[in-house]
Amino acid sequence: LHIIHIAAEMAPVAKVGGLGDVVAGLSKALQNKGHLVEIVLPKYDCMQHDRVGDLRALDVAVESYFDGQLFKNKIWVGTVEGLPVYFIEPQHPAKFFWRGEFYGEHDDFKRFSFFSRAALELILQAGKKPDIIHCHDWQTAFVAPLYWDLYVHKGLDSARICFTCHNFEYQGTASASELVSCGLDVHQLNRPDRMQDNSAHDRVNPLKGAIVFSNIVTTVSPTYALEVRTAEGGHGLQATLNSQSRKFVGILNGIDTDTWDPRTDTFLKVQYGAADLQGKAENKEALRKHLKLSSAEARQPLVGCITRLVPQKGIHLIRHAIYRTAELGGQFVLLGSSPVSHIQREFEGIANHFQNNPHVRLILKYDEALSHTIYAASDMFIIPSIFEPCGLTQMIAMRYGSVPIVRKTGGLNDSVFDVDDDSVPLQFRNGFTFLTPDEQGVNRTLERAFDRYMKNSESWQQLVQKNMKIDFSWDSSASQYEELYVKSVSRARARTT
Ligand code: ADP
Ligand code: GLC
Repeated sequence: LHIIHIAAEMAPVAKVGGLGDVVAGLSKALQNKGHLVEIVLPKYDCMQHDRVGDLRALDVAVESYFDGQLFKNKIWVGTVEGLPVYFIEPQHPAKFFWRGEFYGEHDDFKRFSFFSRAALELILQAGKKPDIIHCHDWQTAFVAPLYWDLYVHKGLDSARICFTCHNFEYQGTASASELVSCGLDVHQLNRPDRMQDNSAHDRVNPLKGAIVFSNIVTTVSPTYALEVRTAEGGHGLQATLNSQSRKFVGILNGIDTDTWDPRTDTFLKVQYGAADLQGKAENKEALRKHLKLSSAEARQPLVGCITRLVPQKGIHLIRHAIYRTAELGGQFVLLGSSPVSHIQREFEGIANHFQNNPHVRLILKYDEALSHTIYAASDMFIIPSIFEPCGLTQMIAMRYGSVPIVRKTGGLNDSVFDVDDDSVPLQFRNGFTFLTPDEQGVNRTLERAFDRYMKNSESWQQLVQKNMKIDFSWDSSASQYEELYVKSVSRARARTT
């Protein structure tokens, strides 16, 4: 198949969170299965240009429509992780992707509706005939309605549209009149069965538009796919999802096992595998030195946490876990940053509070290299999310021998199984889980983990070794996507013959 992903992120060149990892990892896995896979991204000024191989601009610009005019887009092409990637640089006075930020601009709706339309123009003007156009999250949710409204008639009619929602909290809702800019017909689309927001009738909801107009709709774990169909978890879209349930499915993400491999990871002081946990201990020691943490007790458990600091992640529970870990005699290292200024300030306050404490460090920024060293150095890894569509950090942590402590929600519920849960076969039990999103839940789970770690180093080591060998690769999830693509393409072909 010829598959084109259109996305706002791709690791490692333009990554804010897990979306970037998934676009890279899934694309690579599909390419390994023999498909032709290409990716279209915006050309951000803040992306890591040096991580793109052979980056060059094409001679011919791609023209795209916006606000009643045609704008030229400079198209760059290069290789990321062995995959061909097109980067769109709009020649528009608003300099949509020259903002020093990926997201969070006041005109994000304009920036990404422009990008969605330009991406379709790129495919059309380059004469590409993909079987599948796979879009991700609200930033590219305009593609499906644009495709059916404008492009099917222009000869770009070979493609089926697959849409993956990585987080239903972010929907991109805006005043209905904003839809005009990218050429969509407000009167046709601002209807309850199309793009109209389910709770505000003068607003349009791009995410809803993608759900309605795509041929395949997925989210990133089976449990989350059930949660978002309820009033508690659906962020207002539950009725829309229930009405489209035949094409909606949850597929658990994988992780890129080349990028995340402690045996070859060059960010680590010492590479190590499951048979060599001494190497892991050396990484713990190296991180303690680097962060000026006490090394007095080798067997003092180190709890890691690497996260965007947003309410979804259970901010109050993360804060509580830091204090409780210190009380229990453990060490805690948090790497995270927040787009919300009062949360960032709150954590700066906690960082200052612990400044002279040799057991707790908070590093409040995005730092790829440091993230690898924390996965390797930590004994436990905490994710007390309020909701979690999939979550990748629990899988990465396990691969690096750090035992996950998680709240049972979304993809965490599909990948972490409590060591004390008798309803789960022993070989699948891999971590510590709790259900109620409160401090008692965190306390009880941390205490159980500490207890097991302190009392029985041999059984802990066996758990670590077993977890390091779990297959979290993209292979089986990519096969599930492949199956959906093939079914959808054959259904469409059967209709036209
Ligand atoms: P989300 O996409 O909701 O942020 P995921 O668990 O799916 O959560 O993915 C998070 C990804 O971002 C992981 O690869 C994690 O290592 C990375 N990450 C999160 N915060 C940071 C940070 N401050 N520095 C470096 N990497 C980070
Ligand atoms: C989102 C979700 C996260 C998921 C990631 C990749 O950012 O918050 O749970 O793992 O997308 O799908």
